[in-house]
Amino acid sequence: MKKTFGIIGAGNIGQTVARHLIKAGHPVILANNSGPDSLKEIVQSLGAAAKAGTIQEAAQADIVLLSLPWSQVPTLAGVTDWTGRVVIDATNHFITYAPEFKVEDLGGKASSEVVASLLPGARIVKAFNTIFYKTLAEDPAVSGGNRVLFVSGNDQPAKSEVMSVIESLGFAPIDLGSLGEGSKLQQAKGALATLNLVKF
Ligand SMILES: NC(=O)c1ccc[n+]([C@@H]2O[C@H](COP(=O)([O-])OP(=O)(O)OC[C@H]3O[C@@H](n4cnc5c(N)ncnc54)[C@H](OP(=O)(O)O)[C@@H]3O)[C@@H](O)[C@H]2O)c1
Repeated sequence: MKKTFGIIGAGNIGQTVARHLIKAGHPVILANNSGPDSLKEIVQSLGAAAKAGTIQEAAQADIVLLSLPWSQVPTLAGVTDWTGRVVIDATNHFITYAPEFKVEDLGGKASSEVVASLLPGARIVKAFNTIFYKTLAEDPAVSGGNRVLFVSGNDQPAKSEVMSVIESLGFAPIDLGSLGEGSKLQQAKGALATLNLVKF
């Protein structure tokens, strides 16, 4: 049976990933800050496999995707018991947007390590954060190759599960290693951030 994804943050990235997941047969529960009623049209446009839920409902799905603004991640700390939950962190630690794109000073920590500390016990996998959403929305099959998505995490089974899902969507997952090392390469301002690569 396909896993259900709880998507917390139903904007550009949340909807884009939802479309890929639905195409691959995964049901999704979308949640935002404004509440389920505000998501009626979006859910309708995504089709029968999508439903709107509360943040709590999305947080209790089989796999959770964080696609909300960085500044809002701390609000998720108490919404559920995160112990053992597979959580994909697609956030970037921007504190301002265009034209400055300033990132928060995390004192040398990876942004996903900060997320992990805010959601105790969650099995954090960093993914879906490097590519502009409009590019991510495109067909991942490109000229006989597959668009690359970088993946990092300290929990190997959780990372393998997320990589299998990514592969099933038609992307080429590339394991960069741990949150402490790999995710720093893919996070905002990292060497691999914003790259749009195709694996042949
Ligand atoms: N845009 C990109 O191309 C891109 C690419 C990679 C990664 N990212 C990262 O993905 C995240 C989302 O970016 P985006 O462009 O998708 O943003 P966006 O279009 O502005 O959407 C943000 C979503 O988060 C929801 N939200 C805000 N505060 C929330 C809270 N406290 N609890 C639950 N949901 C909340 C918003 O709900 P309301 O509408 O109700 O306020 C909205 O659905 C950011 O961390 C960003 O850095 C973005």
